[in-house]
Amino acid sequence: MDKIVIHGGNRLKGDVRVSGAKNSALPLLFATLLAPGVHRVSNVPNLRDIGTVEKLLTILGAEVRREGGVFTVDATRIASVEAPYDLVRTMRASVLVLGPLLARLGHARVSLPGGCAIGARPINLHLKGLEAMGAKITLDHGYVEAKARRLKGARIYLDFPTVGGTENLMMAAALAKGVTTLENAAAEPEIVELADAINCMGGKVRGAGTDTIVIEGVDELRPLGYAVMPDRIEAGTFMIAAAMTRGDVRVIGAVPAHQDALLGKLREAGVEVLVEEGAIRVRGPRKITSVNIKTQPYPGFPTDMQAQFMALMTLGNSTSIISENVFENRFMHVCELQRMGADIAIEGHTAAVRGVKSLLGAPVMATDLRASASLVLAGLAADNTTEISRIYHLDRGYERLEEKFNELGADIRRVSEVKEAVPAPLKVVGLAGDA
Ligand code: UD1
Repeated sequence: MDKIVIHGGNRLKGDVRVSGAKNSALPLLFATLLAPGVHRVSNVPNLRDIGTVEKLLTILGAEVRREGGVFTVDATRIASVEAPYDLVRTMRASVLVLGPLLARLGHARVSLPGGCAIGARPINLHLKGLEAMGAKITLDHGYVEAKARRLKGARIYLDFPTVGGTENLMMAAALAKGVTTLENAAAEPEIVELADAINCMGGKVRGAGTDTIVIEGVDELRPLGYAVMPDRIEAGTFMIAAAMTRGDVRVIGAVPAHQDALLGKLREAGVEVLVEEGAIRVRGPRKITSVNIKTQPYPGFPTDMQAQFMALMTLGNSTSIISENVFENRFMHVCELQRMGADIAIEGHTAAVRGVKSLLGAPVMATDLRASASLVLAGLAADNTTEISRIYHLDRGYERLEEKFNELGADIRRVSEVKEAVPAPLKVVGLAGDA
């Protein structure tokens, strides 16, 4: 298995370009299931999760071609309506096929994703919404099966503004008969982009980006042509890297309007943030000011930046209180940061991070995607060498991570972990008990 080795302490300087957003590319690629014909989605990042989408679309019968960041999906013939366990367990977002398959073909069978490292993550709200639209949902052998002759528009209140739930229901409602209103809907930029894409396909979606989304169903949609927006979480990760290394980095392609909560908190922490034409420039301060954050649905502080922001706060001048309000178990990085000298105490869903003078390199283990990113950030700022194992998590969400950081002056490389040779056990023949 590969690991990442970082010799920390270099100040990061220069320009880095943000890749296409993983969390937008995923629903956009699944939205191609809504209409027959040849779709084209560009600026798709080269990530493990995208590879999983490609496999899933292919299993369903679509013909997928990939040239660099451009995906061509011919979704004319969909031969299967089943998302199998093997794919859903490697990527939970696979449940996003539910809405489009049900809407277009009247039938979908999707493995239930089960829990994951950061929480239970049920899909009850996706199912409740589909039921309200007339779907018959059954559970069988770990699979959710949904059937409907044609979905009907409905008024749906989401108990929590779930991102995936909002996306699934928006796609389902796009082809339903009548009007669907989603209340307490998620308002993330990825939702706005999906609504825009559905409208480009001939759909009628209004209100995306607010808590009420109104979708007027249409009889059919046409193929999509769309370029994925820049990844706000990747962009934020580079900004924090600059802040932690007293660097000076221009994050090219970062969209300031998507980053209000993070930029506000960085400024509060004494980090210099300059919004330039087509880029955000970040200069790290001599000393970081400790600030508090609470993760919340958009436009609140993103849970996907919590681990990275915590890495920043480990070097703060006093104590920072970090509350995680979106997922119930998203502090897996804490123990690993502690191994690097961070002073963090957890109580329930709150962490108190007392700033230390410096972090010390150590062998650490990645536990989930964003937790891994926080360890990379800590390693970049730490003295000595940090070795991060289980980095397949990083490959789910960061494209060319080492290359991009090295171009900014970091010393980070990927090495193959060679298993130490274990001598074969001695075989003793003929003794009693040798079975
Ligand atoms: C998406 C993002 C993920 C991000 C998260 C929150 C993608 C591919 N992933 O995940 O990176 O961290 O939004 O911003 O876009 N919940 C329920 N019932 C449901 C659905 C969700 O209780 O039916 C709960 C979840 O357990 C969680 C919270 O709602 O505690 C938020 O989940 P949700 O917004 O659905 O996250 P995802 O769409 O899975």
